[in-house]
Amino acid sequence: MIVFEKVEISSLILKNRIFRSATFEGMCDDNGFPLSSYEKMYKELCSNDIGGIITGFAFINRQGSAIHPGQAGMDSEDKIPFYKKITDFAHKTDTKIFMQIAHTGRQTKRKFTGETVVAPSDKSSFYFKDKPDILSTDQIQSIIHDFSMSSLCAKKAGFDGIQLHAAHGYLIHQFILSSINNRRDSYGIDKKFNIGTLFFSRVIDEIRNVCGSDYPIIVKISGSDDFINKFNIKQFINLIKFLDKKKVSAIEISYGTMDYALSIMRGDIPAELILEFNPVYKTESSIKKFIIKNLMIPLISLKMRKFTPCYNLEYAKTAREYTDIPLITVGGIRKGEEIKKIIENYKIDFVSLCRPFICEPDLVLKLLNNENYVSKCINCNKCTIMCDSDQFTRCYLKKNKKYRV
Ligand SMILES: Cc1cc2nc3c(=O)[nH]c(=O)nc-3n(C[C@H](O)[C@H](O)[C@H](O)COP(=O)(O)O)c2cc1C
Ligand code: SF4
Repeated sequence: MIVFEKVEISSLILKNRIFRSATFEGMCDDNGFPLSSYEKMYKELCSNDIGGIITGFAFINRQGSAIHPGQAGMDSEDKIPFYKKITDFAHKTDTKIFMQIAHTGRQTKRKFTGETVVAPSDKSSFYFKDKPDILSTDQIQSIIHDFSMSSLCAKKAGFDGIQLHAAHGYLIHQFILSSINNRRDSYGIDKKFNIGTLFFSRVIDEIRNVCGSDYPIIVKISGSDDFINKFNIKQFINLIKFLDKKKVSAIEISYGTMDYALSIMRGDIPAELILEFNPVYKTESSIKKFIIKNLMIPLISLKMRKFTPCYNLEYAKTAREYTDIPLITVGGIRKGEEIKKIIENYKIDFVSLCRPFICEPDLVLKLLNNENYVSKCINCNKCTIMCDSDQFTRCYLKKNKKYRV
């Protein structure tokens, strides 16, 4: 089956067309240094014949870190030896491994990072709420520099490439979206294309300056979002054309922003866990609990997109018409037969799966034994909500006394 044949991204040869998509681990210390659980988890994934692994998002500097406890950092050279143990192991098992790097922009809180929240504009995120300071051009230049330094650390740590997180409402995405970016300088929205790409372009250029033009850069983007002034198909096509010109190594296409996070990870909305762990909704008051559970969560869930199989595939199919760059589709892929169809019928180069690998790290081996294998993940989204807790990311189908739920 073509799914399990070797395939190239830039000059790298991957042993099959299955990626494990970026998955926040919650397995680092308060300064973003990986703990032994991080190493153990990646070594397990590497031992299970996955073609390419993308790490959970690592912050490029403290200001751009997330609210989730235990996020990885790639902001200093002293972290390199911790990651090197993982990349060395990956290479022994012939697995290609990419580090996803990100700056959160307005999608974080001062309370968690200890730093001013910054963004292209002063528009607050509906979910994160902190009003951001508008980035000056000097500050933008400094963040571009930090993206390149972070990439250089990833290269020195042995990662086969990086993935730039330009999806899910994080900083690069904030510059792209006309619903957020209202700047009047050159970092604003390009009137002809109705998207803002200068920041993205300069980040890519600076990484290439510092890491070499052949260091693989995969990008993750969102096909659309849930804002009133939503990212439309013309803007999406313009973004694909831009990435085609930039000759990035591959494009992974996801959906949405963290304002409506359960539109990114579709499926159930576990209200009880939200009430207990979500930093915005958790409360001790039983009246508030009642209101949030019975009014707010149902209202918000009306806005959330529903789970359907391979729910972002249409964007990848559209992108295929505008670029020959390798495309990766992510979101709702659960069956061996879906993977085969995506790759063979629609000429999408790769599939990428997140929750199925949290649930079954040996999923590829199972697919190799049975091409019609179906993932055991039931999209309950308990692992999604628990990113807000101080517990490691894991599948909650399995009972484990070490964890509270
Ligand atoms: C627990 C969890 C953590 C995630 N962490 C990240 C992340 O760090 N970076 C990212 O781009 N996407 C992240 N995602 C989104 C996934 O990469 C993926 O786009 C989404 O879950 C849809 O794929 P799936 O249906 O195979 O789970 C995360 C998803 C989950 C459930
Ligand atoms: S907790 Fe397990 S079953 Fe539920 S969505 Fe996450 S991986 Fe899937």
